[in-house]
Amino acid sequence: MRRRNNSTVTEFILVGFTAIPQLQFVLFILFLTIYIFTITTNVIIIGTVRAERHLHKPMYFFISNFSFLEIWYTTTFIPKMMAGLVTGNKTISVHGCIIQFYFIFAFGATVNFLLAVMSYDRYLAICHPLHYTTIMTSKVSGYLALFAWTAGLFAPLMPAVWISTLYFCGPQNIDHFFCDFAPLLNLSCTDTSLVEVTFFTFAWSIILCCFFFTMVSYIHIISTVLRIQFPFGRQKTFSTCSSHLAVVSIYYGTVIFIYVRPTARTTFHLDKVVSIFYSMVTPLFNPIVYSLRNQEVKKAVQKFCISIKDLVK
Ligand SMILES: *[C@@H]1O[C@H](CO)[C@@H](O)[C@H](O)[C@H]1NC(C)=O
Ligand SMILES: *[C@@H]1O[C@H](CO)[C@@H](O)[C@H](O)[C@H]1NC(C)=O
Repeated sequence: MRRRNNSTVTEFILVGFTAIPQLQFVLFILFLTIYIFTITTNVIIIGTVRAERHLHKPMYFFISNFSFLEIWYTTTFIPKMMAGLVTGNKTISVHGCIIQFYFIFAFGATVNFLLAVMSYDRYLAICHPLHYTTIMTSKVSGYLALFAWTAGLFAPLMPAVWISTLYFCGPQNIDHFFCDFAPLLNLSCTDTSLVEVTFFTFAWSIILCCFFFTMVSYIHIISTVLRIQFPFGRQKTFSTCSSHLAVVSIYYGTVIFIYVRPTARTTFHLDKVVSIFYSMVTPLFNPIVYSLRNQEVKKAVQKFCISIKDLVK
């Protein structure tokens, strides 16, 4: 039974990783390194795509837009988590928590839509190369990105408003490193079954639709690539696509594990560890996989970094 008393909770405690107190500093350094590395590589990619005229193509526009998104996404929770690790003060106001919930899921949904858009872009380029330039104009790619962002920002609006009407009366501990849906809901003293069903239906439809769309695009891409006659061309296209596919698989594997389920669970230890993958590891590797494996981008990045160095001198 959930405890019900008259005290309204105004603050939560984001427990995070407190199993071993001595580990707090090590974790702080680890997350700081991940955060700095994620921000730096993504900023370099945005700067490079902007500076290089020959990268002004839809594919690179999407990659830089994706980098832009990853910066926002990781910023919604890593700085707060690091502050908690270094000061030991892990409190977050209930409003702050709901705002964090909203932005994590808004940017998270945008990641899904943008991955689907990017796979569609590759599908057109590889499976319909003759029509690609007429279909995927810069205007169309702009609209597709705008769609991904708008749909993503709208998606968690209703659940967030709904959660803000719930009554929280203790306990205060959120057993996670950000305000995730299930651990947050677990603390409410109001009956939450309707919110749960609504949220999970929303989450399911977005995640599974984007997942199937992305997978179908890659299946078409791979079957087209396998029909390429020249071994060199095949290998080159295949290595790019297989690395995209690896990132997409890690991302969806973990996201589906956490969010595609009928109701909220009550223990979150495993969820916390699995969440690290989609929330920190994929934003860290995305820029590397999507761009630095690409020779054209690699050269442009080197040029860009040298020009920045000269500028600083
Ligand atoms: C912890 O931080 C919150 C603001 O995030 C502040 O209101 C609270 O007083 C702090 N608690 C302690 C013990 O410093
Ligand atoms: C990404 O796309 C969104 C929506 O079209 C736009 O607001 C944003 O400025 C773009 N960012 C970059 C870096 O291209």
